[in-house]
Formats: sequence, structure tokens, C-alpha cells
Amino acid sequence: MSNLPTANNTMRTTQIVNIRTESPTVKTYTFIDSLCSKARPGQFLMLWIPGIDEIPLSIMNTTNDLVSVSVKAIGDATRHLHTLETGTTIGIRGPFGNSFTENQGRVLLIGGGTGTAPLLFLAKQLITNAKHLAFVEGAKTKNELLFISELDGVCQEKNIITTTEDGTAGLQCLVTQPLANLLDKEHFDMIYTCGPEIMVKKIFEITEQHKLPLEASLERLMRCGIGLCGSCMIGKYRVCRDGPVFTAAQLREVKDELGISKIGFDGSRIPVYT
Ligand SMILES: Cc1cc2nc3c(=O)[nH]c(=O)nc-3n(C[C@H](O)[C@H](O)[C@H](O)COP(=O)(O)OP(=O)(O)OC[C@H]3O[C@@H](n4cnc5c(N)ncnc54)[C@H](O)[C@@H]3O)c2cc1C
Ligand code: FES
Repeated sequence: MSNLPTANNTMRTTQIVNIRTESPTVKTYTFIDSLCSKARPGQFLMLWIPGIDEIPLSIMNTTNDLVSVSVKAIGDATRHLHTLETGTTIGIRGPFGNSFTENQGRVLLIGGGTGTAPLLFLAKQLITNAKHLAFVEGAKTKNELLFISELDGVCQEKNIITTTEDGTAGLQCLVTQPLANLLDKEHFDMIYTCGPEIMVKKIFEITEQHKLPLEASLERLMRCGIGLCGSCMIGKYRVCRDGPVFTAAQLREVKDELGISKIGFDGSRIPVYT
């Protein structure tokens, strides 16, 4: 049973107060919600689009009572969200799930796609106390590299490595490729990652080889967001309640499913990638 405060799970309606286009497929939405404005990096919310669907999204920033999420248009709900304008009413539940620990040593963050959003939020929290912040961000192509100028402000340009699959910016490779090299040359006290599960799996394998601590944020299909329906299971864990942030020790326990299989909306086990 979930022991969440009832208030977090009560739907609040609010209006979109700002929309920023980040890339051809990603927009950032800002709205007022006092509960989610107290969220820690890694936590997520459920955003209800009236008449369409309710979807889980990572919290990417909070300022006073304002909360922002960055959304990639990939299916019915997210494409519909991309057509909305400021002033539109949406519903919010949350914040839900655990958060990243906030390591004060030498830290490496590795983001893929919209997975960069919660890591940017984390980097902003770490900047005051961490000894060193480095960031590796990967995308398919240059105009899908997200938040580059904000990351420059937080981590400094010299500590950021970008990769693109088509070579239009940064190194032409997958985001995981420069990692082994970097870990051979430099010591890190903690690695944080969020992005496509196949990327998380590869990073987990590399950090295991280097015997380094890792915290990874995972995505699974979610309905209730509070540990009741079981649609987000990975191994013995419910990603919405026990995660979405998992340690290397927990990832070892679920490695037979990580990047391989998940539960689909009809309850059957399906491949993570089809
Ligand atoms: C904890 C968490 C945090 C997330 N954070 C972000 C974020 O910050 N930005 C962002 O753009 N996306 C995020 N996602 C993914 C986002 O929830 C899905 O892209 C969205 O639900 C897709 O809805 P759709 O109707 O547009 O697509 P659909 O047409 O329903 O599906 C397209 C694909 O999206 C995936 N998907 C569909 N519904 C869900 C769901 N309820 N939960 C997880 N995956 C789903 C499926 O793999 C499906 O193949 C997050 C997911 C989780 C679980
Ligand atoms: S979404 Fe229902 S148990 Fe996690």
C-alpha cells in the first residue's frame, strides 16, 4: 500500500502559464502548483490533459510556486499537449516517487533526450556543494540536443561533452561511447543517468565494470503513479513508488528485465523496444 500523503494524489487543476519550444519535438510547459514546486530532482508528476489522457512526466524545474516539465511529442497525449496554448487548464497529481541523492563530490551526469530534463534540475541543486560537475548529453541530431545553454551556465562548457548520432554537433557516436574513456581518465564519486532504457542499461554495464556508484531514473508504463496498479513493475519494484531512481545494487536485481522487457497496457509482458 502507498503511504503517500493524500494531498499529493489529489488532482489539482491549474493553467499553463508559459510554453517554450526547446527543439522541433520538445516543449517546456510551466504552471503553478505549490505541492510540485517542493519536489526534489528525480521526482515526477502525473499531468492530465482533459479529454485525452494522464501521463507521467519528470519535474525539470521549480521556482517559487512555478513548476516546469519538458515534453517530447511521441504519441496521442504528448502530441495533443503540443497543440495547447497558455491559459489552457490541465490537471496535476504529485509529486511522486523518490529523488536522486545529492552527492557533494565529483559528479558525472549522463542524459539522453528528455532524460536530460531531470538531470538539469539535479545539476542546479548540486552546483553549490559538489566539487566538480561534468555532463554528457546525447541526441540523434544537433537540434535535438536539449538545454545546452542552461547546461553551459551550470556545468561550464569545458565540462560538457555532447554527442550526436549523425555528427551534426559534438562527437559522432552514441552518448555511451565517450564514457569508458572518461571513466578511465577521471575519478567520479557518483554517476547519475536518465534517458532511453537501452542507454541506461549500457551505462549500468560500464559503471559496473569500473565499480562506480550509479543512480538511474527509469521509465515504465504508469497508470496510478502511487504503487497500486502494478503496471510499472520491474522485477520486485514498482517504478512509481520504489523509483523512479534506482541504485546500481537495485539495477543488479532487475538486470534480466532492464532494457529487455516491460508490462504493456494490456498487462502482458512486451519487449522494451519493438
Ligand atoms: C517517471 C516517468 C517520467 C517521464 N518523464 C518524461 C519527461 O520528462 N518528458 C517526456 O517527454 N516524457 C517523459 N516520460 C514518458 C511519457 O510519460 C510518455 O512519453 C507519454 O506517456 C506518452 O504518451 P502518449 O499518449 O503521447 O504516447 P502513446 O501513444 O501512449 O505511446 C507512445 C510510447 O510512449 C510510451 N508510453 C505511453 N504511455 C506511457 C506512460 N503512461 N508511462 C510511460 N511511458 C508511456 C510507450 O512506450 C509507447 O510506446 C516519462 C515517463 C515516466 C514513467
Ligand atoms: S503506476 Fe500503478 S503501480 Fe506504478
